[in-house]
Amino acid sequence: MAFFLSGSDTMIDFDAIPHDRLPVLLRTMPKAELHIHIEGSLEPELIFALAQRNGVALPYANVEALRAAYAFTDLQSFLDIYYAGASVLLEEQDFFDMGLAYFERAAADNVVHAELFFDPQTHTDRGVPIGTVINGLSRACETAQRELGVSGALILCFLRHLSEEAAFATLDAAMPYLQTPLQTAPQSARSRIVGVGLDSSERGNPPEKFARVFERCRELGLHLVAHAGEEGPPAYIWSALDVLQVERIDHGVACLGDPALVARLAAERVPLTVCPLSNVKLRVYPTMDRHNLAALLDAGLCATVNSDDPAYFGGYINQNFMEAFAALPQLTARHAHRLAANSFEAAFVDAATKARWNQMLDKVFAAD
Ligand code: HPA
Ligand code: ZN
Repeated sequence: MAFFLSGSDTMIDFDAIPHDRLPVLLRTMPKAELHIHIEGSLEPELIFALAQRNGVALPYANVEALRAAYAFTDLQSFLDIYYAGASVLLEEQDFFDMGLAYFERAAADNVVHAELFFDPQTHTDRGVPIGTVINGLSRACETAQRELGVSGALILCFLRHLSEEAAFATLDAAMPYLQTPLQTAPQSARSRIVGVGLDSSERGNPPEKFARVFERCRELGLHLVAHAGEEGPPAYIWSALDVLQVERIDHGVACLGDPALVARLAAERVPLTVCPLSNVKLRVYPTMDRHNLAALLDAGLCATVNSDDPAYFGGYINQNFMEAFAALPQLTARHAHRLAANSFEAAFVDAATKARWNQMLDKVFAAD
């Protein structure tokens, strides 16, 4: 017997949990989702419904034709379709509907907290006011909390294929909606923005391109994250840490090629928001059994499991857990518990809330 005293002082005998209990545990354990692009949760059915509601013409005849186009060869081939899909979003209600549809899926997967990335430039560049985007998503967060018991926050992402100047203009437009210690009376008291991130085409767009924007966001008291080491090299993870001074790395799977970087990430417990299905669909790994999730955990890293763009990559967070654990038999109940605990550790919430979630987590495993 190898009893393990967990964070909430509950005794859990992980070695006694049979492997065939894993699917139930993975599904029922409480978890936080920290890497979900809300525009990537737009299901083809909702894309067509919104296109009809808003009179937007789509270059696909029907849902099946759109789904058939989801055969990606790399990040850019996905992004081209992802930005086209987002073109149906025009009104505040559209953003609310998209957000709430995600929260309903998340609640079904026992997600207790989600931090949603959104890409304002994808919408403002089409003439949609930034307030329309932020108010719709913030209202979805409020409704999710009230009706589903899932807490939500928003992370505004800058598109790294666009300029620093465009990122600064986006930050300026978002200023009235930021909840930071220095901005205590936002124009919209309902805004849920807690931080900023960096996404879109990684190669050729290193983090340092946005050094000054992130410096300004840091001064504003915002949380900072960035995609790095998805398709890009370990050097981009180093500069996300050293130049942008981010608190979490999104993806980060490339780190294992650099032992000094792994040592740094482990020592500082920098969370990695890993997205297994995304990595296979975008061919970062040829198949799931080649994914490095188990190696990341065994290297002592604060890795988490997330869905990235669930409508495009074959499933929501539990599907990511299920497929990763099915393909990587070295992953055990201890790893499952660790992944959920890591997601709470990495979340931008207070310590008391994390302690409460950890108790819920331990109960699921102790009862087994
Ligand atoms: N990587 C970079 N940018 C993105 C992604 C991703 O996986 N999904 C949506 N925007
Ligand atoms: Zn992502």
